[in-house]
Amino acid sequence: MPGFKVAIDGPAGSGKSTISKRIAEQLNLTHIDTGAMYRAITYIALQKNIDLNDEASYVFMQDLKVRYEKNRIYVNDLDVTDKIRTDAVTRNVSKVSSFPYVRRILVQIQKDAAQNIDVIMDGRDIGSVVLPDADLKIFLTANVKERAKRRQKDKEVLGIKQELDALENEILERDHKDSTRKESPLVCPPDAIVIDTTHYSIEDTTKRITEEILKKEKYHGRTTNEGR
Ligand code: CDP
Ligand code: CDP
Repeated sequence: MPGFKVAIDGPAGSGKSTISKRIAEQLNLTHIDTGAMYRAITYIALQKNIDLNDEASYVFMQDLKVRYEKNRIYVNDLDVTDKIRTDAVTRNVSKVSSFPYVRRILVQIQKDAAQNIDVIMDGRDIGSVVLPDADLKIFLTANVKERAKRRQKDKEVLGIKQELDALENEILERDHKDSTRKESPLVCPPDAIVIDTTHYSIEDTTKRITEEILKKEKYHGRTTNEGR
């Protein structure tokens, strides 16, 4: 039976991964965070000390197996989850992800991973390129001030203090790069439901998307963990 597919796209800090993870747990879907894959490749590229600006440098990807499983990201079976959220990775990931060579390899991995399973996949080009036939497409957004505040809180938890203005600029720069690249840019698919989470809690957004999933006939009959 073909799987049930949910595509979640949106800019940095709109809540994609947190909300996708919750929905996956409640509705028995497999969650795949595609941003973690681009971050993992950026981490490996930094480790290898290659010229990040040269697309030809990324041939090293031919020997790599990238896999996202149960909230962890693996490269050749090495768990790199705790290495991919550094400032160096965040600063460089939009450059790395702009190269068609890098994108083609990761998009194929993502398409293959979603085959024949019930999946909720989050990223920038999921509804447009990776899962164009998704059963439900959601585009999450929020104003940049709110997204910067969320990032600031995330950093505070890790004991890192960062000015709001600096975070706002970093997010705007990344959004700009992600939206203007030639190959599969960040776009809102025309058939997506747009949810502005600026004044919406994680719970409210999760509930809203869950309602949309439960409206889908194809989803019916599947076991839910809702309310656990
Ligand atoms: O969580 P955060 O918003 O910081 O970003 P992420 O989802 O971890 O994605 C990191 C970066 O990977 C993005 O800024 C994009 O440059 C790239 N990305 C992409 O190009 N396509 C995707 N499907 C997912 C992420
Ligand atoms: O994946 P993406 O970059 O879109 O966002 P995220 O990493 O899921 O969310 C960034 C932060 O904002 C996390 O700490 C979330 O808990 C928080 N968040 C929030 O406070 N309210 C929302 N409605 C959505 C996310």
